[in-house]
Amino acid sequence: MDSKINKLNERIALAHLGGGQKRIDKQHAKKKLTARERIAYLLDEGSFEETGLLVTHRTTDFGMEKEIYYGDGVVTGYGTIHGRLVYVYAQDFTVFGGALSETHAEKICKIMDMALKVGVPIIGLNDSGGARIQEGVRSLGGYADIFYRNVQASGVVPQISAIMGPCAGGAVYSPAMTDFTIMVEQTSYMFVTGPNVVKTVTNEEVSSEALGGAHTHASKSGVAHKTAANDVACLEAIKTLLSYLPQNNRETAKTLDITLNDEVRDTLSDIIPDNPNKPYDMHSVISGIIDTDSFYEIHKDYAENIIVGFARLGGRSIGIIANQPMFLAGVLDVNSSKKAARFTRFCDCFNIPLLVLVDVPGFLPGTDQEWQGIIVHGAKLLYALSEATVPRVTVITRKAYGGAYDVMNSKHIGADMNFAWPTAEIAVMGAKGASEIIFKKEIAEAKDPAKKLAEKEKEYSEKFANPYSAASRGFIDEVILPKDTRRKLIKAFAMLENKEVNIPKRKHGNIPL
Ligand code: COA
Repeated sequence: MDSKINKLNERIALAHLGGGQKRIDKQHAKKKLTARERIAYLLDEGSFEETGLLVTHRTTDFGMEKEIYYGDGVVTGYGTIHGRLVYVYAQDFTVFGGALSETHAEKICKIMDMALKVGVPIIGLNDSGGARIQEGVRSLGGYADIFYRNVQASGVVPQISAIMGPCAGGAVYSPAMTDFTIMVEQTSYMFVTGPNVVKTVTNEEVSSEALGGAHTHASKSGVAHKTAANDVACLEAIKTLLSYLPQNNRETAKTLDITLNDEVRDTLSDIIPDNPNKPYDMHSVISGIIDTDSFYEIHKDYAENIIVGFARLGGRSIGIIANQPMFLAGVLDVNSSKKAARFTRFCDCFNIPLLVLVDVPGFLPGTDQEWQGIIVHGAKLLYALSEATVPRVTVITRKAYGGAYDVMNSKHIGADMNFAWPTAEIAVMGAKGASEIIFKKEIAEAKDPAKKLAEKEKEYSEKFANPYSAASRGFIDEVILPKDTRRKLIKAFAMLENKEVNIPKRKHGNIPL
């Protein structure tokens, strides 16, 4: 018996060593944790149960039968984070550079299938040289098996990807189909083709970091939803993100016990500047409304003219979408529309109510935007909000102009409660532009056209640059004092808790992609 136990222990010890101490040291020298260290940090202490520890690859080409490592370059299993069950896989760069073989893929697929059956989040910690070159198409098939499951799991259980090393070629498409991608700064990169191929095909000279590093994807492409300074910060970010999410699409996120539900927040009264063209930071409106320090921003450095993220309001998890007047005056453009649409759809999949804060002067004009297809991209946000059946509440803090008024969760597209501050201006366009068009003749014929324009601008402002025309038609449910916003919203979301919407039977809609 002892010898049999020893045999098992030997195998376990070998599996825990991955590609060996030398390669582990190399991983540490790059300031990276190993796959096992990452899982140990991510999960509650002692909660990890491993599956497939003794799995090995089946390749005999290129002398691979002599290079066998237990686990085959990926650690898979389940455990808990703050007591909640999750499934996790972590690619082990010390074994064939974490490259994906047929069996490596099978291990990942197995836990994805389990997570879907049980209804719990899937977390993937990626650190891999891509397809296992020695296995050819078997490896590519493995990727496709994972992609297929990513799609089956989409909208059923949350899927979170961390990029903690290389992620190139086909490997990028699994994270791309998950809900959130967090990249570690300096040690991770993602690209479809690396700098060498880029040089050959386009003659561009670019470093890995500039082509597909964390900063690039968090600010330029939007592929990364968040960056983290190192492995530990990345794993912490995953834990925090998870705290806002339910386990699956049949549940709601856990509500925390918060007692300050009737709180008046005076700080909100002084945010909107007297001059309607002066910017202010919408983050101060957000923090003025939500439970203290509860904002978890997504896509912070991408399309900064719109802010999206999770927060808690009276202990409830909510998603926030807010125009940001500090960037491009808060206009909607291609990237901000895509960013907010994607976030809306995530929240709607997972029963997370939406709060939309509006200060939008319209869509960004210009050939650049039109030729990029702002019509279709703007429609994404319009479509996503219109189809969202979660509780939806809007607060217009200042401008709500033109088509952007409709798009930003207006009553007309199904918002449940629409509030406006007394500073709201709900109109087809700003007073100056409007006066120049409708009083064109009168202004041109005036003795002093500038004076006439100012007069007409004032007239238009008094009539439309306020919330009262919209309120008189019931498009706004209530004009509220800024300081009351928090308590009004807490009550509104509580009132909407059991909201149910019957949608027409169909396979799926055809969102403009
Ligand atoms: N398949 C099989 N083995 C791979 C691999 C792959 N795709 N990528 C890396 N490895 C192995 C290396 O042979 C090396 O093995 P060793 O420990 O026995 O020496 C180990 O993983 C580490 O790779 P190394 O190149 O030494 O690490 P690095 O940090 O210098 O570079 C990469 C990492 C990912 C940039 C580099 O390995 C690479 O370019 N890999 C190929 C990427 C690729 O084209 N993948 C296929 C397309 S999807």
